[in-house]
Amino acid sequence: AETAAHFMPEHGDLVSLRQAASTCRACPLHQCATQTVFGEGSPTARIVLVGEQPGDREDIEGHPFVGPAGKLLDEALKQAGIERREVYITNVVKHFKFRETETPRGKRRLHQKPDSREIYACRPWLEAELAAIGPQVIVCLGATAAQALFGRDFAITKDRGNVMRTDWCDITIATWHPAAILRMQDAARQSQMRTQLVEDLASVK
Ligand code: URA
Repeated sequence: AETAAHFMPEHGDLVSLRQAASTCRACPLHQCATQTVFGEGSPTARIVLVGEQPGDREDIEGHPFVGPAGKLLDEALKQAGIERREVYITNVVKHFKFRETETPRGKRRLHQKPDSREIYACRPWLEAELAAIGPQVIVCLGATAAQALFGRDFAITKDRGNVMRTDWCDITIATWHPAAILRMQDAARQSQMRTQLVEDLASVK
């Protein structure tokens, strides 16, 4: 199967990577998404945050974590004493995947989890971003990012917040995805997850 490796630019700097990724066709997701949402932030970041894939707002605006999950992430970073502009934020998959549904209030684009082929196809972009930056810490936001870096057996409920080594970084941890926190119905549990997200971010700082 085709992967993003086929679209890699000659030079591995972030500017060249972003440009090349904007026309990636390694998987079918580019057909329906508005645009590639590449990682953003400091090219010399010591901390890289990895999410799942852009959502509806990110797809429209072209920037990672600018929707509701991004607002929660911004607050958590602030509480952890981390400036958003000092980190680099990206996603495992760079195109929005959705299913369109009719609702009484019109059409809505419902987020769909990327499958293993899409993750495999897109992975060279993430690896190239990590190689260009060489972070001291990688923070996986949620199970999709964690499983992409730690393997399919990773269980976020069990191994959240634990420092582990990966091929990409000596210090790699996983924490709750901000969107998973927003989806949590149980208010007490939601508040606990929020606290844990801040704690995990503060621990890498
Ligand atoms: N959720 C993600 O995983 N990434 C984004 O960029 C936005 C929402």
